[in-house]
Amino acid sequence: MNLFKAILERRSVRAFTPETVPDEVVESILGAARWAPSAGNCQARDFIVVEDPRVKKALSEAALDQRFIEAAPITIVVCANERRSAHRYGRRGRELYCLLDAAAAAQNLLLAVHALGLGGCWVGAFDDSQVGKALNLPPWLKPVAIIPIGYPDEKPWTPQRRPLKDHIHIDRYDRKPV
Ligand SMILES: Cc1cc2nc3c(=O)[nH]c(=O)nc-3n(C[C@H](O)[C@H](O)[C@H](O)COP(=O)(O)O)c2cc1C
Repeated sequence: MNLFKAILERRSVRAFTPETVPDEVVESILGAARWAPSAGNCQARDFIVVEDPRVKKALSEAALDQRFIEAAPITIVVCANERRSAHRYGRRGRELYCLLDAAAAAQNLLLAVHALGLGGCWVGAFDDSQVGKALNLPPWLKPVAIIPIGYPDEKPWTPQRRPLKDHIHIDRYDRKPV
């Protein structure tokens, strides 16, 4: 799929058919996530693939009862690996870079999900310690995004974006400052 098409047409999908996601598709999705940029190429992010209905239920509960997590055939939890980043960058690695590494991977992952004809949603509203407990995470893995994935059972509406001019501030020497 053309990259711009994928970027513009990707939507958060929160309803899934029960069809399972084949292992090779999961591998392709994770392969795309793995190639996202990262600070110093430390790749301070890890991925937990969850299929067990009990664990998905625990994740739903940890995420303010967002039940579509439980209903998805698989859920991938993208975690920041604080230890890996702190090893090279100290406090900045632990407090910032690993989160950015994980976020970049999550975005690649969502685009790959869409390009492969599946749907997913970045879920960020959750209790960190409840997620940690559900997944038995070591203390240096911080969950950043819970991403339920499956074949779409809805055609989501398109939430509008702010006009580009609201985001862009150009200060060039040959132009008047905006
Ligand atoms: C950091 C972050 C946290 C989010 N948390 C949630 C969430 O907890 N539940 C949810 O349904 N969607 C969540 N979303 C998805 C956004 O609601 C969605 O991306 C936004 O409304 C734009 O819609 P679109 O993804 O279809 O373009 C989150 C997205 C991001 C980037």
